[in-house]
Amino acid sequence: MVHTHTVGLIGHTGNIGKQILKHLIKPYEDGKLNIIILHRAGSDLSSVPKGIETRQVDISKPVDVALLVGINTLVTAVAFEVMGNTVNLVDAFAKSPDAVTFIPSYYSAAWSEADIAIPQMAVVNQHFLPPIQKAKEAGVGVTIVHSGLFSEYLFVIPFVGASLKDNTIQANAAMLEKTFPIITHEYLGAGIAQLVTNPPETIKDKSYSFIEYQVKGQGLVEAFEAVNGSKPTIIDFTEKDYEEGLNNPMGPIGTLYKAHWSTGELVYPNETKPEGITSKSLVELAKIYK
Ligand SMILES: NC(=O)c1ccc[n+]([C@@H]2O[C@H](COP(=O)([O-])OP(=O)(O)OC[C@H]3O[C@@H](n4cnc5c(N)ncnc54)[C@H](OP(=O)(O)O)[C@@H]3O)[C@@H](O)[C@H]2O)c1
Repeated sequence: MVHTHTVGLIGHTGNIGKQILKHLIKPYEDGKLNIIILHRAGSDLSSVPKGIETRQVDISKPVDVALLVGINTLVTAVAFEVMGNTVNLVDAFAKSPDAVTFIPSYYSAAWSEADIAIPQMAVVNQHFLPPIQKAKEAGVGVTIVHSGLFSEYLFVIPFVGASLKDNTIQANAAMLEKTFPIITHEYLGAGIAQLVTNPPETIKDKSYSFIEYQVKGQGLVEAFEAVNGSKPTIIDFTEKDYEEGLNNPMGPIGTLYKAHWSTGELVYPNETKPEGITSKSLVELAKIYK
């Protein structure tokens, strides 16, 4: 069977990576692409179907170009903490004759230059930005994938101040009227898999966004009430909360999500919908986390 291009994937066991791999299998079997799995020593390879090539790599240090040869689209879906290390992967990828485009493990809203310049963002920027900068400097394509907030960061982890368990939502009056973007791992993984099934040249140097649910704050309130059987407590989000939130241990990103939610300025370029994914209702989704 002739495969037209090769997708490299690192992070195949992660929340997003495992969904990317799952949704790449069909196009692989249909001969639309080849897959190479990059993984660290000790990674569980049991989910990788027989016949798919695996290559061990240590991204904490310079990477041998030979490990990237043959890959045209390089998808990274690694843990946030090691995202900065993918700079070593990108450096080697850029030297491969087969390299076309690199997808950073970004999967967040499109933060503006002003957002990135906020001093408290420095700790985030050190993970987010170097791989993208490296790819641009080295002349390899970059395909940035933006994403809504992962659903567990809304319902379980109080990343934006909501907690299904405590039945609380942090939102000011504007946020109750404006929409907030949410996504499940499967929806994003399917979206990325379908994106990289396209010829690499066609997705090179472009941005895409995946959002599964666009829900007004009031809609969240109703979903929490439907799941918990009582109205959630709404905690105001004020200017003071914004200032304090930038410095809180959950980091500034959750605070920026709220700030832009309240002004309707969460940016998602080129929104794309994966085919063949049936989303649950928001209430059914929330019930999973109850
Ligand atoms: N929009 C949102 O709400 C949101 C929320 C969270 C994260 N994100 C973004 O999404 C990205 C992916 O998140 P995720 O939750 O899917 O990540 P995750 O589940 O934490 O990723 C784990 C994956 O990273 C791999 N990994 C960890 N350390 C590694 C290393 N040193 N070398 C190679 N591979 C390593 C793991 O491999 P092993 O199998 O070897 O352990 C595993 O495959 C993050 O980078 C972050 O930017 C967005």
